[in-house]
Amino acid sequence: MLTIGDSTALENLTEIDDLTVRFGGVVAVKSLNLTVKDGEIHALIGPNGAGKTTVFNAIFQLVPYTGGIQFAGRELRGLPRHRLAGIGVTRTFQNLSIFPSMTVRENILVGLHSKSRSRFISELLGLAREPRQQLAETLDFFGLTALAPAYAAVLPYGTLKTVELARAFISHPRLVLLDEPAAGIPTSEKGALKAVIRKMRDAGTTVLLVEHDMELVMDISDSVTVMDFGEKIAEGTPAEVSADKRVVDAYLGEETHATS
Ligand SMILES: Nc1ncnc2c1ncn2[C@@H]1O[C@H](COP(=O)(O)OP(=O)(O)OP(=O)(O)O)[C@@H](O)[C@H]1O
Ligand SMILES: [Mg+2]
Repeated sequence: MLTIGDSTALENLTEIDDLTVRFGGVVAVKSLNLTVKDGEIHALIGPNGAGKTTVFNAIFQLVPYTGGIQFAGRELRGLPRHRLAGIGVTRTFQNLSIFPSMTVRENILVGLHSKSRSRFISELLGLAREPRQQLAETLDFFGLTALAPAYAAVLPYGTLKTVELARAFISHPRLVLLDEPAAGIPTSEKGALKAVIRKMRDAGTTVLLVEHDMELVMDISDSVTVMDFGEKIAEGTPAEVSADKRVVDAYLGEETHATS
């Protein structure tokens, strides 16, 4: 297990080099350099429209980009997105991506689907032991065991966000990208969310976290990168970035932000 806290000693798991993403005339991400170290919780923050989700979409090969994105020493460019889980990269979505007509169990098993179609099918047929075990462990990890047979449609939003985390984690990725896990979550559930994100990190999954909840970000992150208008404006420890004048200005300039 790597030592958390001494983040300078950690190996670079993900290296984003000179990333630029354009949508017509809009430069959503501009010459971004970003390093995520193995074993850390790394927050990517910034006002609405700063380009955070677009960075995730570039990693997932969902948008055209220039520059390089390396994961564990491998260039991701051109990799079909369904192969990302197989090499150890998963994500959640800013807008919840849950199938309402499926159960909690089935929604989580989708996280194994992309890893191996045949394993997914055999699980559905009730044949494979290993996925069943992985599912049981994952349900337990996220406190969802009792809800496994429940249909997603009847569950509260906060629970569905946890189901989405469980889906992203069931394959035990080396890197998980979380896009606003706290959005729409009641304050009373945020402590549990922090604990589960830390638990994912402690279980060996590096976390790249996009989040507007600054209390959560500053509490659980090992390092923070701040974007504004597509560009990196600051990076460092939570204490360093929260004392940075450009960061304060960027946030003060933001009148409101949607919790979408
Ligand atoms: N598919 C797209 N087509 C056109 N423009 C897009 C697309 N995706 C994002 N953009 C634009 O790129 C910019 C960055 O958007 P992005 O969604 O990455 O911001 P964000 O930092 O995730 O913001 P938020 O905190 O509101 O989620 C915005 O101006 C947005 O309108
Ligand atoms: Mg976003």
